[in-house]
Amino acid sequence: MGAVRVIIRFETPRDLEAIREVNIVAFEHHPFSHQTEHLIVEALRAADALDVSLVAEVDGEVMGHIAFSAAGIGDASSGWFLLGPVAVLPDHQGKGVGRALVETGLDALRSRGPAVASWSETPRSTLASDSDSTRASCGRASPTRTCFVS
Ligand SMILES: CC(C)(COP(=O)(O)OP(=O)(O)OC[C@H]1O[C@@H](n2cnc3c(N)ncnc32)[C@H](O)[C@@H]1OP(=O)(O)O)[C@@H](O)C(=O)NCCC(=O)NCCS
Repeated sequence: MGAVRVIIRFETPRDLEAIREVNIVAFEHHPFSHQTEHLIVEALRAADALDVSLVAEVDGEVMGHIAFSAAGIGDASSGWFLLGPVAVLPDHQGKGVGRALVETGLDALRSRGPAVASWSETPRSTLASDSDSTRASCGRASPTRTCFVS
């Protein structure tokens, strides 16, 4: 199968229902989930705490989402962020979309300042690591980025 064109971009008001659906479906059978991820995203947005919210789009359909929110450490609120939740629809998983969301989000945060914290609620936190190896090849134009996944 040929490469699939994925657009990574910031959320818009028209994406909110699709973001909700992606989080519900992606976490439906997750062993550590309480199936509240869509509510977490919505609570962050309502609190104006959703600092970076990106969607992944294929053929005009949102099939992935990632959220980053500012984290206070001690008394400091100095540029650290939490990563999560991150979700990709099951049919599109394992093709590099999650990595493209993480890397694009980290790039967006890095452009704001020196400190970035990344976090995952799963035991395997490698999703957030800085790695040169990636199956997705992405253009570097930010904030909207076009990626090609397998
Ligand atoms: C986790 C998730 C977002 C990954 O998206 P994806 O598009 O399938 O991931 P990619 O194909 O880009 O894989 C990127 C890397 O992450 C790894 N990875 C995949 N799922 C992972 C997971 N649950 N935890 C940690 N690492 C994972 C892959 O092995 C890959 O590493 P590699 O390139 O060294 O092999 C997706 O599987 C998903 O929505 N899962 C259900 C929700 C979830 O568990 N979210 C994370 C907690 S907030």
